[in-house]
Order: sequence, then structure tokens, then C-alpha cells
Amino acid sequence: MILYGTRFGATQGIAQEIQKGIQENGIETEIYDLKEHPSKNLPSSLKGHDGIIIGTGIKMSFWTKSVKKYVKKHGAELKQKQDKLGFFVCCGMANKKEEIGPAIEKYIATRLDKSGLKPALIDAFGGVYDLSDTSLMSGMNKKIISGILKDEEGWENVENKTYDFRDWDQIRNFTQKFVSLIKNS
Ligand SMILES: Cc1cc2nc3c(=O)[nH]c(=O)nc-3n(C[C@H](O)[C@H](O)[C@H](O)COP(=O)(O)O)c2cc1C
Repeated sequence: MILYGTRFGATQGIAQEIQKGIQENGIETEIYDLKEHPSKNLPSSLKGHDGIIIGTGIKMSFWTKSVKKYVKKHGAELKQKQDKLGFFVCCGMANKKEEIGPAIEKYIATRLDKSGLKPALIDAFGGVYDLSDTSLMSGMNKKIISGILKDEEGWENVENKTYDFRDWDQIRNFTQKFVSLIKNS
């Protein structure tokens, strides 16, 4: 079962790619956007699932509310399944290869440490800055991001462009590792 939280759609794309990869290995998967599926509409128990993947986008250092809520509510059950649990974040910090390790530490390890949850597989994937007309970002968020790209990265004419930093090889590699976990159970 794949569960994810997204604000602008980038994590959804990753979750769907992971689903595709798992299914190509002949394993059935269910996928849920946690915002659209309140817990009453989700399978009430994790028992029927051989493995679980949870993914969240990051904004202002925070997971999405729906993922935070889910992990809090199902912490004990997830802990029992943590050897078959994958957890990933999709964030701007991981756009740079050398920042992937620190992003895992900052957005996953230190947060889960508090609950004692240790997923078998964790990763941080780069994100998307969609500054186009069809973007799900508000005008305000677009302004913040274009300011950062100009001031911190020195990029010019960023308006109306889309920057996609998701590394599909990294995502497929994560998927294969997860499939191995499931198959070796
Ligand atoms: C307003 C805003 C704040 C953000 N804050 C962070 C942040 O604190 N750390 C980070 O690594 N990335 C940050 N990002 C980048 C997002 O994590 C990235 O755009 C990602 O693709 C979002 O995933 P989603 O579309 O699934 O929500 C931010 C993006 C926006 C628009």
C-alpha cells in the first residue's frame, strides 16, 4: 500500500512511478492520496498488506498535515511493520545530490526518532518548482520560490518555467530495493 501527501503534485508523481515499478514486479498495489482519503476510508488495518510506503512533500520544513496525522495515529501498527516500511520525502533540499543525506536526516530520521519508528527504507527525492500558468502553487508561493532561485542560485528569467529535480533513476532504485524487501519476506 502506498500512501502519500502532496501540496503541488510532485510527490504524487513519485508515488505513481513507485506504484508502476512495484506492479511491474507482479505485486498488487493500492495507492491513496491521504488528503483525499481520510482514515475512515482507508483499510482499517495494515495486516493485509505485505509492505507499506509513505511519502510526503515538504513545505517550510513541514510534512503535509495528512501524513503527519496518519503516522501519529498509526504509529504503533507501523512500528510492527517497520521492516516492510518505506518512507520518503520530496523536497527542494534534495535537489542537490550532496544534500540528499542531510535531507534524509533533517526531514525523516530526526522526526521519526521521536516516535521510535525506523522504516527499513528511507530516501529523499528532489522536488519540482512549477512556476508555469498551470502550477498548483499560489502566486505568493511562486514569488517566494522565484526569489530564492534568483537570489540563492543566481538564475534569471525563472518566471513561467518548470524545474523538475526528481531523479527517476533514484526513485526506481528505491522501488527495486522495496520490492526485494517484500519478496524476501
Ligand atoms: C512555499 C514553499 C516552501 C518550501 N519549503 C521547503 C523547505 O522548507 N525545505 C525543502 O527542502 N523544500 C521546500 N520546498 C520545496 C518543495 O519541497 C518542493 O517544491 C516539492 O516538490 C513539493 O512537493 P509536493 O508538490 O508534493 O508538495 C518548498 C516549496 C514551496 C513552494
